Order: sequence, then structure tokens, then C-alpha cells
Amino acid sequence: MTKALCPGSFDPMTMGHLDIFNRALGLFDEVTVLVTGNPDKPSGLFTVEERVELIRQCVDPRITVDYWAGLLVDYTTQHRYDALVKGLRSSLDYEYELPMAQMNRRLSGIDTVFLLTDEKYGYISSSLAKQVAKYGGDVTGLFPEPVHKAVLEKFS
Ligand code: PNS
Repeated sequence: MTKALCPGSFDPMTMGHLDIFNRALGLFDEVTVLVTGNPDKPSGLFTVEERVELIRQCVDPRITVDYWAGLLVDYTTQHRYDALVKGLRSSLDYEYELPMAQMNRRLSGIDTVFLLTDEKYGYISSSLAKQVAKYGGDVTGLFPEPVHKAVLEKFS
């Protein structure tokens, strides 16, 4: 059994995230989405509990969803994950992800598998989509439906 973990802030999850989770499910026997703390993004639009709940509403029932406040590799080691899975939209993402992947591998030996973001979702980020929604722009198609609804409610 191969187990993959998709970690991130997911404030909130986008269509791009959902696509990566589903593709990970095609490659690994078990997939978990883990909402984790990012010290560089201290406050979010959604609470951690809200993010977890929204992800649960959107993902395939075979995918489990959890939250972790500590070091990522402590979770992957404790629960015996084989790989981390992340999406790459551009070379900017690569620059951001490379040191984290290398650090995680150095700390615990875990590899990070990068999936190239589907071309349909390459321009979507949670922060950009939130900004558009905040000023009343149309964010249709950027989030799965339950998340879209929750984002509109936050800004109403
Ligand atoms: O979606 P993000 O915010 O880009 O994801 C970054 C995240 C949350 C995966 C990263 O900040 C993380 O792993 N946080 C947990 C704490 C940790 O292990 N930090 C060291 C990473 S090398």
C-alpha cells in the first residue's frame, strides 16, 4: 500500500488543489489532505476547522482530511507516508517548493512528488481568488461549489 500526503494551507482549497488530490488518488493507494500551519501566513480567511470541513465536502470519499499544527515530517513519519504530493504551476512555485522538498527529505527521507498543474488551473491561487472575491469580482469556476459559496458568504 502506497500512501501519499497532500499538505498545504488551503485557505481555501481551489479547483487546482482538487485536481491535484484526484490525480494523486490515481497514483497512490491512499491519499490524505493535510491542512498545516504556515508560519509565513499566520491569519487566514477561514479557520483551520472551516478549511478541513470544506475540503471534506469536496473531495472523493476515499480521501481522508486531517489537520496538523507541528512539523510536517513528524506527521509523515508517525503515520508512515511514502511521499508528499504537491502541484507546480510555474517556475515561481518551483523556487518556493524546492527548498521545502529538500528540507523535508533531509529531515525524514520523504520524497516530494510534483504534479504539473492542469493548464485550466495554472493561473489560480487561493490568495488571488480571495482578492478578486473581496472586491466583488466573479470567481465562478475557481473554487469547488461549496467553497465558492463559503467565500461569497465571507465577503457578503
Ligand atoms: O499551501 P502552502 O502555505 O504553500 O503550504 C506550505 C506548507 C503548509 C506545506 C509548509 O509551510 C509546511 O510544511 N508547514 C508545516 C511546518 C513545517 O514542517 N515547516 C517546514 C517545511 S520544510
